[in-house]
Amino acid sequence: MSKYGFIGTGNMGGALARAVAKTVDGEDIFLTNRTRKKAEVLAAELDCQVCDNVIVAAACDYVFLGVKPQMMAGLFSEIAPALTKRQERVILVTMAAGLTMETICRMAGGDYPVIRLMPNTPAAIGEGMILYAANDLVTESELAEFLDAMSPAGRFDRLDEKLIDAGSAVCGCGPAYAYMMIEALADGGVACGLPRAKAVEYAAQMMAGAAKMVLETGKHPGELKDAVCSPGGSTIAGVRALENGGFRAAAINAVAAACEKNKELGKAK
Ligand SMILES: NC(=O)c1ccc[n+]([C@@H]2O[C@H](COP(=O)([O-])OP(=O)(O)OC[C@H]3O[C@@H](n4cnc5c(N)ncnc54)[C@H](OP(=O)(O)O)[C@@H]3O)[C@@H](O)[C@H]2O)c1
Repeated sequence: MSKYGFIGTGNMGGALARAVAKTVDGEDIFLTNRTRKKAEVLAAELDCQVCDNVIVAAACDYVFLGVKPQMMAGLFSEIAPALTKRQERVILVTMAAGLTMETICRMAGGDYPVIRLMPNTPAAIGEGMILYAANDLVTESELAEFLDAMSPAGRFDRLDEKLIDAGSAVCGCGPAYAYMMIEALADGGVACGLPRAKAVEYAAQMMAGAAKMVLETGKHPGELKDAVCSPGGSTIAGVRALENGGFRAAAINAVAAACEKNKELGKAK
């Protein structure tokens, strides 16, 4: 069985480790984190192992790099010697915003097989939208094994690496925009007299249901919107208010700004 090692068990590394623990035996999962206690708490929950960065780099088949992009160079200065000494194959799995697979190899000091993921936080509950790319050194059978192990994290889509910054601006950053929308709609409900807890529940379930309608019917979101708007009715009055507030332009600009920032972060390395 392949061994899966997670360096950095924060929001994203922890979410992906949780997903892998649904398909892989705990004895083949190794966690490490700068603040060791965080890895220990997760390892107790998932019934897997805690070790250190160098052991993960020396012994695991898939090494997940779950640290912030600006920490990556420092991490590689610690683990690159262990990677270099290895006789067996190792696949590096990066989820760092803005860092290309080429940059990861340069930091690692060698031509390694690399899988680049762009996950989002709903992966923690199996509802992630996870984009991925792989360099030429990853075989199709390794990729298939990897996707099998990761499948409980949510929906996966292979994307040309050139488009990962754009995809990430929609689905990696997008949960923040969706939460703002839920919060704002709930504020509207409270302004109209709803108790806060009910307003949040209604807004969140409505967003989840509307999202499922798009995915399951395959209909254009504009068509689904039109079906809610009766002539002269209350929904079209709300749509008009959103348009007056520049809602569409704000959403488009949010994604474009996030995409630009991803590119900047990548250039800084
Ligand atoms: N959050 C998202 O929605 C999201 C989406 C897509 C991609 N990502 C990517 O996921 C990566 C992690 O982000 P995050 O949001 O999960 O950040 P995070 O919650 O801050 O997690 C990073 C973890 O790395 C640990 N760490 C830092 N340096 C380390 C080292 N040298 N050795 C071992 N562990 C170390 C930190 O330990 P401490 O406990 O000591 O701080 C922390 O637990 C980033 O590259 C980010 O670009 C995140």
